[in-house]
Amino acid sequence: MRLFSHCLFKRVFQSPCFSYKQKQYSNINCLELFSLHVIAVTFTRQTSTVPEILQLLTSCPLSRNYCVTDQFAFQENEIKLLTAEIERLKNFGCLGVSPSLEGLRDENAKLKYRLNFLKKSLQEERSKSVKSMININSCLQEIFGAAIQAAYPDLENPPLVVTPSQQPKFGDYQCNSAMGISQILLKTREQKVIPREIAEKIAKNIPANECIEKVEIAGPGFINVHLRKDFVSKQLSSLLINGVQLPAVGKRKKVVVDFSSPNIAKEMHVGHLRSTIIGESMCRLFEFAGHDVLRLNHLGDWGTQFGMLIAHLQDKFPDYLTVSPPIGDLQAFYKESKRRFDTEEEFKKRAYQCVVLLQSKNPDFIKAWNLICDVSRKEFQKIYNCLDITIIERGESFYHEMMKDIVKEFEDKGFVQVDDGRKIVFVPGFPVPLTIMKSDGGYTYDTSDLAALKHRLCEEKGDILIYVVDSGQSVHLQTVFAAGQMIGWYDPKVTRVAHAAFGVVLGEDKKKFKTRSGDTVRLIDLLEEGLKRAMDKLKDKERDKVLTPEELKAAQTSVAFGCIKYADLSHNRLNDYVFSFDKMLDDRGNTAAYLLYAFTRIRAIARLANIDEQMLRKAAREEVLVLDHEKEWKLGKCILRFPEILQKILEDLLLHTLCDYLYELATTFTEFYDSCYCVEKDRQTGECWPWGGECACCTSCGGTSISGCYPVLERLLSHYCVHVED
Ligand code: ARG
Repeated sequence: MRLFSHCLFKRVFQSPCFSYKQKQYSNINCLELFSLHVIAVTFTRQTSTVPEILQLLTSCPLSRNYCVTDQFAFQENEIKLLTAEIERLKNFGCLGVSPSLEGLRDENAKLKYRLNFLKKSLQEERSKSVKSMININSCLQEIFGAAIQAAYPDLENPPLVVTPSQQPKFGDYQCNSAMGISQILLKTREQKVIPREIAEKIAKNIPANECIEKVEIAGPGFINVHLRKDFVSKQLSSLLINGVQLPAVGKRKKVVVDFSSPNIAKEMHVGHLRSTIIGESMCRLFEFAGHDVLRLNHLGDWGTQFGMLIAHLQDKFPDYLTVSPPIGDLQAFYKESKRRFDTEEEFKKRAYQCVVLLQSKNPDFIKAWNLICDVSRKEFQKIYNCLDITIIERGESFYHEMMKDIVKEFEDKGFVQVDDGRKIVFVPGFPVPLTIMKSDGGYTYDTSDLAALKHRLCEEKGDILIYVVDSGQSVHLQTVFAAGQMIGWYDPKVTRVAHAAFGVVLGEDKKKFKTRSGDTVRLIDLLEEGLKRAMDKLKDKERDKVLTPEELKAAQTSVAFGCIKYADLSHNRLNDYVFSFDKMLDDRGNTAAYLLYAFTRIRAIARLANIDEQMLRKAAREEVLVLDHEKEWKLGKCILRFPEILQKILEDLLLHTLCDYLYELATTFTEFYDSCYCVEKDRQTGECWPWGGECACCTSCGGTSISGCYPVLERLLSHYCVHVED
């Protein structure tokens, strides 16, 4: 018990935060690689046959998503230029030109020196790049892509389906393209070929590679792939030595994420909580993958509600310009002003005038507006602090100056129609038009979103824009995006603009999440309750008896906020989500509590066996990791699926896949731990060391296997743990 608590609270929660090292990579394709090899061959003056080169392309790690830094690409280019220069110099003699031979020799020597230098740094760059993990799924896709291409050279865009196998008897991965190809052949060429035959043809054309041990055709035409043990083992050792480094994701992109985005004077609600949690994680993921992320809080800080708020402020606290008004309870203040707005005609009129004065940037009105915004800002910040959220404020008001030009641009391009005094824009495919100017000359939510879109595309130069906003706003956002395309701000083939929508939060009764009295739940109250529940749970488990008060407090916040975040992330964001403290604090099933427990266990084993990271790295360098035991093999493969999972999420933005994977990893580890010895213990002295019995699988369990998942789990889980200072 003590051990568990010790690890859980001291080690896990104080684990380092996810580090977002930003890498700059560029991709090199096979053709470039081919020329690179030709150049290399030229330099080394070795001759190389085409089959040899092909062999090199398919077997060396360069043929995969091989990444090189920009510097690498630049150096290659220089090598090309220098080679050409040497050739030119060599040819001077035969062309009969007779400049000073001495001078030429000199220059030649210098060039050779420079060439050697470049070759050396090229080598260094190359060894750096192989440090990153490999996405086995995309390796296999490349291999099967080549096989299909060779088997059916005339087929355009043949389906390429590679997935991990669900059962060990079906191998490690499966290629299921044969069925699709059979359909295409039938439809486009009226050829009736059974998928099994196609599968056989594909299998025969698999190019030489380093990852496939053997393939088997099964069922109607599945190609079951068995990975090579030495390949998996080598990847795990490299992971151990180099740490978790994702394969390069191509050019470093600018990613703009619009998330959280609550409204001033209105309480931040559970919908905003979802956006905050999902958005923050998305930002971390893109940063982890090496991109440049701009985190934007598109605050609702410029609506008509400010008219009534300011009018009410003027009445209640006429000296607000000199004395800060006590409007801590902004909600109550908002409700009062709304009641007056609905019932007092005179007040309503004045409220509208206030909006006009605010929007014309009258200093007194700006002061009142700032006072109100500050109160909300402080409230939001409390929540961001609890959940460890980093975001910059760029509310609707930020775009005010741009809105006039937006309206003009749509008018100039002939997209505007006037309807009952309003200026509206119809976008093909969308029945409801955007209102870009109201009849009183004011701007709307549509106008500010159009301005924001243009700013993110043209000023921020975003390559990927993500809007983490509830599904209810889908039509609004899709119309805005389509309008942006229509007016020529971006081309969806080049720039990705995505609405990462999410469903509503429901109570345990499956109805909209409300308090007992039917009011909206205040977020801060929700977080408070989380803290209370976490403490109850900790006391239940008698953690208060083994921890210092500070440790207990740290555990409480980590469990409470970690569980709230993980519960949200582990559900498919597209579905509605049932908020349940009981479920999220359960230490069984796919919950943060369970993962923290699994993680703790791994760290405890490592500590018990007196293994530290340095020892593991040394072992990985010197020993071959043996993966003979079935559970060991399963764990090894599971660990290596990490890049594949992350790359999928970068595409579909569905974060629950990562949680599913983590859960699978933790349970696979448990299976392994239950079946393989990891630690030996001297009964008399109590001394422990990694298991070194006769069974090879267990040797590696103790020596290196744990370590395989140890750094991965550590880094992943610390992502979800709230960092607690020592
Ligand atoms: N403030 C809005 C709301 O609470 C969300 C804003 C989302 N972002 C955007 N660019 N529209 O509903």
